[in-house]
Amino acid sequence: MKILAIDTSCDETAAAVTDGLKVFSNIIYSQIETHRPFGGVVPHLAKREHQEKLPLVINEAMTEAGVTFDDLDAIAVTYGPGLAIALEVGIKTAKDLVRKHQKPLIAVDHMEGHLLSSFAKDSKGNFGVDDPRFPALGLLVSGGHTELVLMLNFGDYQLIGQTLDDAAGECFDKVGKMLGLPYPGGPEISRRAKKGNPDAIKLPIPMKSSPDFNFSFAGLKTACLYRIQKEGKLSEKFINDFCASFEKTVVEALLIKLQAAVDKHQPGMILLGGGVVVNEKLQTEVKLLMEKKGVPAYLPYDRKLLLDNAGMIGVAAFFKAQRGDFVKNLDGLDRQPRLEI
Ligand code: KG4
Ligand code: ZN
Repeated sequence: MKILAIDTSCDETAAAVTDGLKVFSNIIYSQIETHRPFGGVVPHLAKREHQEKLPLVINEAMTEAGVTFDDLDAIAVTYGPGLAIALEVGIKTAKDLVRKHQKPLIAVDHMEGHLLSSFAKDSKGNFGVDDPRFPALGLLVSGGHTELVLMLNFGDYQLIGQTLDDAAGECFDKVGKMLGLPYPGGPEISRRAKKGNPDAIKLPIPMKSSPDFNFSFAGLKTACLYRIQKEGKLSEKFINDFCASFEKTVVEALLIKLQAAVDKHQPGMILLGGGVVVNEKLQTEVKLLMEKKGVPAYLPYDRKLLLDNAGMIGVAAFFKAQRGDFVKNLDGLDRQPRLEI
């Protein structure tokens, strides 16, 4: 089943062609350079960039996969959560294409995409989760979300924990800014953390002993601000030590709740997704913990599938198509910026 998938939920303009679980092309045009001078995503600039770049990105995805519109079985698009005016661009484009080429449309939840990204296979059919064991537990960590999702089956999800304020990635980005590092802070902090001492600076672990599976990163962000202000002039050594200490604290905060959720729900597997999972320390610590617990932990075969991309949307769309879940009324499909899995 060949699908053209589109995602314009935030600041990445993305299109992919998938066939079943195989990803034939996964093109991402990153708007990072546009937003960098502002230290964060500027919605109207994101919209303009999506409008300009999406046709080119779609064209590239189709060319790289070697398909034409005639070859496609369906078109899929992210309808939420995300920035309203950014989502609109993808939805409008997808509607125009399904009308023009008479194809069915599949509307996909961006977070379901992140959750199912580990099922993706490369174009030859390698990699990907082969024997899913339910319930599965998803840890989704990105710039906009920090969630624990219990997956009972495809299409059957329970959001058992989420951040009460900032997302973990957002906290990385804001702390990066406080340290004077380029946007987005996450990759830069993890690069510098390798050169620093993770025990040099004591930071509070958010929500450590709350009995639920929720997260909070606003308090940590404020603690970082005070500590950085107190330091005054920041030496290279201080910045590296701070990055290592901060990274360790965020990873610990995530692992405490992951472990609690594993103990309570006894999942058959762990599914990791979202841009922050690119972080090597997070990957290593999750793997170590899950080896101890005897629970397999999966992440997608390609780093691209962790960041915002449309390959994961094609994969989620394939499972929806198998359930017969197509958009019945095109005019009724609207963006849902606050969509919850
Ligand atoms: O999933 P994603 O591409 O976009 C959203 O849906 O938000 O995630 C982007 C987030 C950013 O906050 C970025 O700083 C963070 O992922 N990130 C990282 C790393 N690479 C990207 N955070 C920590 N360590 C990294 N290596
Ligand atoms: Zn995302």
